[in-house]
Amino acid sequence: MPLFDVYPLYDVEPTKARGVYVYDKNGKKYLDLYGGHAVISIGHGHRTYKRALRKQLNRIGFYSNAVQNPLQEKLSSEINRQSGSKDYELFMCSSGAEANENALKLASFHTGKSRVIAFDNAFHGRTSAAVAATDNKMIQAPLNDQHKVDFIPFNDVEALDKELSKGDVCAVIFEAIQGVGGLDEPTNAFVTAMEQMCKKHNTCLIADEVQSGFGRSGDFFAFQNYSITPHIITMAKGMGNGFPVGGILVNPVIESSYGMLGTTFGGNHLACRAALAVLEVLEKENLYENAKKLGAYFTEKAKELPFVTKSKGRGLMLGLEFENEVGPLRKELIFSHQIFTGGSSNKKLIRILPPLNVQKKHFDNLFNALLECHK
Ligand SMILES: Cc1ncc(COP(=O)(O)O)c(C=O)c1O
Repeated sequence: MPLFDVYPLYDVEPTKARGVYVYDKNGKKYLDLYGGHAVISIGHGHRTYKRALRKQLNRIGFYSNAVQNPLQEKLSSEINRQSGSKDYELFMCSSGAEANENALKLASFHTGKSRVIAFDNAFHGRTSAAVAATDNKMIQAPLNDQHKVDFIPFNDVEALDKELSKGDVCAVIFEAIQGVGGLDEPTNAFVTAMEQMCKKHNTCLIADEVQSGFGRSGDFFAFQNYSITPHIITMAKGMGNGFPVGGILVNPVIESSYGMLGTTFGGNHLACRAALAVLEVLEKENLYENAKKLGAYFTEKAKELPFVTKSKGRGLMLGLEFENEVGPLRKELIFSHQIFTGGSSNKKLIRILPPLNVQKKHFDNLFNALLECHK
């Protein structure tokens, strides 16, 4: 039976991975500066992570949300402690789209309204409301048109004010650093105004931290660069270092009730263990600091590359923009230099999303390879 053909695949078959390296079936070693799409946070095959999952699997891997699972509370406390996002409540799910879907639904429940404001180039996932809030017509089916979503540019206070003043907006959803969109960030003044306007108009502010969260930006959440308190924070990707786990942090102004949200797989024992192991390593190995330090190193070094027109992002959510489209360059990096990088909807940009324990020497490898490619 053939696979439903939706992914254009590189002809590489990874069979082993350790730290920042991935090995193919012939034993060839690749430097993973893509982190399997910003997923690998603490590095491939981390001992603490493997041990935690193995131990949990020997006890109990899964039971439904109909019974007590203290691991969810443990995880909730640990996220609160490490992120400093106090007083939130945790609901768990299994992916980024699902986290945003739940966040949007919750905003609608809470406000009794249904229109959403999202931003140009936003990506929030491929499920119903999440894809409707994604700025890409190509991945929206007619079914998704039923959602009322309007897109405005970052930093346009007037446009946001005009939309929110209409009084029918349940949520403004934003990425503090756009991922798929190509690493653009709103200004501090805009984000501050956005929070105030949301409060004024009874609209929930949703910070989509699916890609930028769990330390990738150098802070626990990328929105922490600003002084705001979103109503809902969504998380996934780096949270499980490859184990499918996501979640939302909900400000208690939004009251819960039985049945309001729910999922079969969300918050299962293995998922909680994976996320707890990630948090343990993030703190013990000070990966927040490493993300900041290495991000700064990368940005400084990028200035030396004459063919790079712009370097973007912060922490280890980074991008390099070139004069031409980067498809062929990314192929050359994989097949001639064994380096994985990411793409984005900006075809001239490569995204660098490495495990958070990446070192200077790995970036030096990339820069040397880029110099070779441009000879
Ligand atoms: C910011 C952001 N939100 C949501 C998603 C969707 O996550 P998932 O693919 O886990 O559904 C992504 C995935 O790339 C993302 O980058």
